[in-house]
Amino acid sequence: MKPSVIAIFASGSGSNAENIIAYSRAGADSGLEVALVVCNRPDARVIERAGRLGVPVEVLTRAEINDPAVMLPMLDACGVDAIVLAGFLLMVPDFLLARYPGRIINIHPSLLPKFGGKGMYGRHIHEAVVAAGETETGITIHHVSSECDGGAIIFQATVAVAPGATADDVETSIHALERTHYPRVLAATLSRR
Ligand code: GAR
Repeated sequence: MKPSVIAIFASGSGSNAENIIAYSRAGADSGLEVALVVCNRPDARVIERAGRLGVPVEVLTRAEINDPAVMLPMLDACGVDAIVLAGFLLMVPDFLLARYPGRIINIHPSLLPKFGGKGMYGRHIHEAVVAAGETETGITIHHVSSECDGGAIIFQATVAVAPGATADDVETSIHALERTHYPRVLAATLSRR
């Protein structure tokens, strides 16, 4: 199996990025090779995590990420054939959607279309899930389109929200689901046989 060479785009803590990198290295046949991490926040913890694992990190401004003259040569130089979003909080520019059709994937920590759209990310979602009295929540892995959280769904997994659960509790169970499923689903969707 020929591995997919991916760039991970991230804005925050980077637990998913770290998990994907670990998975990609766990066996010769993982189906994934992480060439690069792209980050838009100079203070994001993902920079330290990726650096510790020896993965090159590019810290770029929003304007640079939206500039084809910056992004395309950089991604081409690393042989990137797919982009994986892992807690990335900017919209993906149209020129990247055109350059990587069907090969840009995101994970969203709710059961889309519930709790999706602008302003719905990370902890805000878990707080909204608890406030709405939901009895279950989950993760959605989906293709990225020009619509926020709107691309075709690839995979969903659910988890119960126990009575009295806090946003912290929900976040912990969501991270566990992400750890279990995201790298495996990425490899199955992206690797070229
Ligand atoms: C993850 O839970 C991811 O699903 C979510 O942000 C968190 C990032 O955590 N993404 C979104 O909310 C996208 N709308 P991490 O930086 O530790 O991987």
